[in-house]
Amino acid sequence: MTTSDDKKRQAAEEAAKYIQDGMTLGLGTGSTAAHLVAAVGLMVQKGLTVRCIPTSEETRRLAEAAGVELIDPDESTVIDLVIDGADECDGDLNLIKGGGGALLREKIIASSGTRMIVIADESKNVAQLGKFALPVEIDRFSWPLTIQKIRRVLEAQGIKAPSLNLRPGPREAGGGVYRTDGGNYIVDIACVRIPDADALDRALDMIPGVVETGLFVGLADMAIFGTDAGVTVVEAKKA
Ligand code: 5RP
Repeated sequence: MTTSDDKKRQAAEEAAKYIQDGMTLGLGTGSTAAHLVAAVGLMVQKGLTVRCIPTSEETRRLAEAAGVELIDPDESTVIDLVIDGADECDGDLNLIKGGGGALLREKIIASSGTRMIVIADESKNVAQLGKFALPVEIDRFSWPLTIQKIRRVLEAQGIKAPSLNLRPGPREAGGGVYRTDGGNYIVDIACVRIPDADALDRALDMIPGVVETGLFVGLADMAIFGTDAGVTVVEAKKA
């Protein structure tokens, strides 16, 4: 039986075939991206030269352990290829990301890459975004006021009675409220169904206090899904 982790690894290994010598790579975050980091590490051992930008401290640690050369994001001007996981991916390759809490850095890097490939197991391939709770990163200052404004925007966007939850911190780290690598909070929003991801992303981004949303609209060029029958590759529709 092919496990979900096998499917994640298949997708990551297929995406690694698009890496070329000399590239600057954006490395995503999460369990699927961890397979990619391992694949890049093996390629580097065999002689590949790449420079990589991690999208989280977790990925930085994995990449360092795998012997992958990292550069400071401040140094880079061109990122050739970004490869990252997703929590949901629809038919237009719009994404929900941030389940692992790295959405801000992931979005900065995804929007800076010449090309972005999404890697996931087939369960992330959805007809419509919204079943996975949408992560939104917010500044800690006056966070209840920001949440109030987020709720109003959701209702104006036709998302009825959304439930909003401030993400709790990991139990092993003493609980409390989850903090991103940048020190912000995350609100997870159970939307059920997101009628217009682009409009919702824009409207949420207008709220003072919202740092970034987990909606990645029009950023991915290709999605690679691991399935029971091997990998499925989906290219973004050209405008
Ligand atoms: C982290 C992310 C991840 O890409 C997303 O949560 C998918 O994770 P996984 O590969 O572990 O299923 O957005 O912020």
